[in-house]
Amino acid sequence: MELKEAARQRKSIRKFKNKPVPKDVIKKVLEVAAQSPSALNTQPWEVYIVSGRPLEEIKKENIELLTAGTMPSPESQSMENLDGIYKKRQVDLAIELFKLMGIGREDNAKRFDWMQRGFRFFDAPAAIIMAFDKVLDNSANTFSDLGCFIQTLCLAALEHELGTCIHSQGVMYPQIVRKHIDIPDEKKIFIAVSIGYPDWDFPANRIESAREPIEKITRWFGLE
Ligand SMILES: Cc1cc2nc3c(=O)[nH]c(=O)nc-3n(C[C@H](O)[C@H](O)[C@H](O)COP(=O)(O)O)c2cc1C
Repeated sequence: MELKEAARQRKSIRKFKNKPVPKDVIKKVLEVAAQSPSALNTQPWEVYIVSGRPLEEIKKENIELLTAGTMPSPESQSMENLDGIYKKRQVDLAIELFKLMGIGREDNAKRFDWMQRGFRFFDAPAAIIMAFDKVLDNSANTFSDLGCFIQTLCLAALEHELGTCIHSQGVMYPQIVRKHIDIPDEKKIFIAVSIGYPDWDFPANRIESAREPIEKITRWFGLE
């Protein structure tokens, strides 16, 4: 697949088919992702792949805590209290997803049902939990490096007809993740990537989220 095509085709998949992803396929995807650049070649990414029973347990217990109203306590800070253009983009995305899913503004039951999906890893058969060592926590390079790895992973997945969704929701209760996956204390959980075969009949998977034109995000110097 052409790089340009892959970059355009990749999108967040929020429902997967109930079809397992073979280990060797995930391995191939990770081999491509591991070619990513990193500051000083530190390769700070730590990758925990979870599927089958432990993943099902995490999904179930996440939902139990969410339903009980337990405050999430993610190990890596998510974005909160957005304002201005960032808030607008967040709201635009929600409007588009809710439109596709037929979720009304006041429909709290459907909204809660929607929120649960992320905590259920969007029903993916496998997930990749990304973490890094706490000694690297004070460097923006670490987050950039993990981002490079994750984007490469999402693009490489397409070659195997796999979809992905990068999400913080699945790891918002790290105590649950750590109960079922042995992640050493000195590692910090960063984010989750759900991976699997997309359910193309699911309306939200038709999303084509907007992007600003490059004219709006670039300033040129020394080039006419
Ligand atoms: C760091 C990060 C965290 C994200 N967390 C969530 C999440 O918790 N739930 C969710 O539904 N999508 C999540 N997303 C997906 C974004 O909403 C999505 O990438 C964005 O809307 C652009 O859409 P696209 O991925 O379909 O191109 C996350 C993406 C990133 C990069």
